[in-house]
Amino acid sequence: MAYTAARRAYCPYSRFAVGAACETDIGCFVGCNIESASYGLCCCAERVALFSAVAQGAESITRLAVACTSATQHSLNEKVCCGACRQVMVELMEKGAEIIIYGVGVFTLDELLPIPFRIELDQIG
Ligand code: THU
Repeated sequence: MAYTAARRAYCPYSRFAVGAACETDIGCFVGCNIESASYGLCCCAERVALFSAVAQGAESITRLAVACTSATQHSLNEKVCCGACRQVMVELMEKGAEIIIYGVGVFTLDELLPIPFRIELDQIG
């Protein structure tokens, strides 16, 4: 599903297509990267998939697959998720969630982002 979703990427500036798919308690949701002429507004495929799942009522997100279909075959760095998406994954996905990176392997959130930023909500107010 992630690989297919990359076909819908809107990436006229980078020409780098990415697709993602996440598995939740209410089904699977896909995402693709969506760019803007105001470059800072671009959103990665992983976050589009996760935000879509949350917006549609998902309460538990257990797996996410990502496919960087424009990546050069020998490049590991072109295939992996960016740091911003890793931070969002830690916040929105289940603790033991799996991240499947097309052409690379399967990872835990801990492996991708061992020391995430967190605000301890019980210490606020
Ligand atoms: N991109 C993603 O969709 N996911 C990532 O993890 C890395 C980068 C997108 C953002 C931008 O549209 C294009 O790839 C080039 O950076």
